[in-house]
Amino acid sequence: MARIIVVDPFDYVVFGGTGDLARRKLFPALYHRDFDNQLPETARIIGVARRDETTESYRADVEDAIRASLPEGDIDGEALGRFLSRVVYVRADGTSDDGWDELSRVLDERRECIRVFYLATASNLFGPICHRIKSHGLITDKTRLVLEKPIGHDLESSRAINEAVGQDFPEDRIYRIDHYLGKETVQNLMALRFANVLFEPLWNAAHIDHVQITVAETLGLAERARYYDQAGALRDMVQNHMLQMLCLVAMEPPTCIWADAVRDEKLKVLRALKPIAGRAASNVTVRGQYRAGAADGHAVPGYQQELGPGTPTSQTETFVALKLEIDNWRWAGTPFYLRTGKRLPSRVSEIVVTFRPIPHSIFSRDAGPVVPNRLVIRLQPDEGIKLWLMIKDRGPGGMRLRNVPLDMTFREAFGQRNPDAYERLLLDVVRGNQTLFMRRDEVEAAWRWIDPILEAWDANKEGVKPYTAGSWGPSASIALIERDGRTWYEEDS
Ligand code: BG6
Repeated sequence: MARIIVVDPFDYVVFGGTGDLARRKLFPALYHRDFDNQLPETARIIGVARRDETTESYRADVEDAIRASLPEGDIDGEALGRFLSRVVYVRADGTSDDGWDELSRVLDERRECIRVFYLATASNLFGPICHRIKSHGLITDKTRLVLEKPIGHDLESSRAINEAVGQDFPEDRIYRIDHYLGKETVQNLMALRFANVLFEPLWNAAHIDHVQITVAETLGLAERARYYDQAGALRDMVQNHMLQMLCLVAMEPPTCIWADAVRDEKLKVLRALKPIAGRAASNVTVRGQYRAGAADGHAVPGYQQELGPGTPTSQTETFVALKLEIDNWRWAGTPFYLRTGKRLPSRVSEIVVTFRPIPHSIFSRDAGPVVPNRLVIRLQPDEGIKLWLMIKDRGPGGMRLRNVPLDMTFREAFGQRNPDAYERLLLDVVRGNQTLFMRRDEVEAAWRWIDPILEAWDANKEGVKPYTAGSWGPSASIALIERDGRTWYEEDS
């Protein structure tokens, strides 16, 4: 059974309180923690936005959002009522002083408790909102700031934002969220590597042939056309989620699990990424955009159609595959292949570590091929870990070899609901634990590596390659890995 420790009293102030993220992720996550009795009696959630609402109408809206985001079985009338009674609405504008006196009044009722400002807004508002938080005297000794990704759209803009925010908040009060770090299986990666003796001696280029990281989604643009068309898959997924996962796979063992010990090691990985720039980018990166096809069994329009009639032809990528190398002793000679995309055949996120082949086979040809071992860490769906091993097939007929998985599906092993990443992260902020949050230098190091790829793409006239919705991306993505004599992992392969 999970251990429930009630956190200290807090006020959670959510800017962008009527937005998509707050409705789909933040409120349902806080509701779940409340349902599990982890919130103290006096905890409050204060939604802030520009819309004209009263606390009463806002509570109704939050209730709708929670009911729409969670399965019916997760909703308990009494717990939901208790949660909604914690919710308060304040109308205020991040770009002017409008409404800030009211926010100060509401917060000043409780200056002694932990205060969290969660900025679920566009990142160009982070600086202006922080300045107002400070100039209205709202920063107490126990105040923390949460910033949603993406922070900027390139190195320069992310530096400017970090600089602006840094004028009002010191780094040890800033929590840059990457919700992939809150996923159970991503954290399990650290447990797997550093709480077992088995893997670490083999965790290097001498024993690992290559690593694949795939994050595939069946979703298309949903309601986020404006944001997404400015961003694209490289900025939206690779710069943050995928590079963070890569860091946890590739980093050296930190001396302890404290925030800076872990973040120092991740930073070293980001700094060791071999640059991809200029013409070389077209050999090791593939970008695609989906055309009409099928998703989840339904016909779906193409990206350009989703953007709407009259929109200029977009070159935004909805798919990226790339091969990267880490220039250090541990990983020289072991490529990492990353791919992510929207409107792919299934929703699956996994990290696949393929070990090197055995040096010599003692078996005859009749025994069948000896397949290299693979460790598959699956984030979603069906979170779990599979270690593919060669064994002897059962029964008579001589020595015949078979590749089978040692399979640990967490749902079967633990039988509990798998908490959403935000549940963990939102309360880590209250606890003051920064381990699963990105430090400024990490975010900037990631942009420093991403920027030359974006520049190379801009300079390349070829543009994005089309793929049919419901396929695994452009065929160039398959060629990218097959050129090296390898294939993308497919379940039960
Ligand atoms: C977000 C991206 O950060 O992560 C989205 O902006 C993406 O485009 C989402 O859909 C994926 O998260 P998850 O938890 O559903 O895998």
